[in-house]
Amino acid sequence: MALRALMTRKTLALSSSKQALLQCRSLQTTSLPDLSYDYGALEPAISGEIMQLHHQKHHQTYVTNYNKALEQLDDAMAKGDASSVVKLQSALKFNGGGHVNHSIFWKNLAPINEGGGEPPKSSLGWAIDSHFGSLEALIQKMNAEGAALQGSGWVWLGYDAQSKKLVVDTTPNQDPLVTKGPSLVPLLGIDVWEHAYYLQYKNVKPDYLKNIWKVMNWKYASEVYEKECPSH
Ligand SMILES: [Fe+2]
Repeated sequence: MALRALMTRKTLALSSSKQALLQCRSLQTTSLPDLSYDYGALEPAISGEIMQLHHQKHHQTYVTNYNKALEQLDDAMAKGDASSVVKLQSALKFNGGGHVNHSIFWKNLAPINEGGGEPPKSSLGWAIDSHFGSLEALIQKMNAEGAALQGSGWVWLGYDAQSKKLVVDTTPNQDPLVTKGPSLVPLLGIDVWEHAYYLQYKNVKPDYLKNIWKVMNWKYASEVYEKECPSH
């Protein structure tokens, strides 16, 4: 009897400490990241108007809606409301993916006077030559896949940490590259939603894809590659 009473007290103590921990846990929402360059700094490849709208309106909306869905998820989890938890998954994927993808996209770009468009050097440059034949062949492949993508989405250069190979792939909507495989790490992502180019390029998506390479920040892609593939 005494043992049972002791165990009950211990269980209660554990249960209340877990509850206190859950109550103390604050919800970590996200915020719009700053760009490291001015909106007009990528002209003429990408207009300042597009960059401003893209960052301040489109990306901000993904952030706002992701945070809203996170708060609803927190609430549903606290209530043990499985139906609502499941219902929120598509909003979390779409808006969370939009935030993740755009956060990479801004780093993938750089003004020409800050190294934008300078071809990758050292290990990533060699890996591209080895996997695709040349940088030009890779660009042609990504442009072809981006141009052929139906609807909205992204075209990616990724590194498969399992097979140790570079890959080119596309994702629909705001799906991050990792949805195509858990070992895929994005090095470069090109936004091929109409909001990324239409104000400047209208319906000529291939011209947007051709010009974006003039402001591509290969330095960022190389840093990610070297971090993920230290034994290159
Ligand atoms: Fe976008």
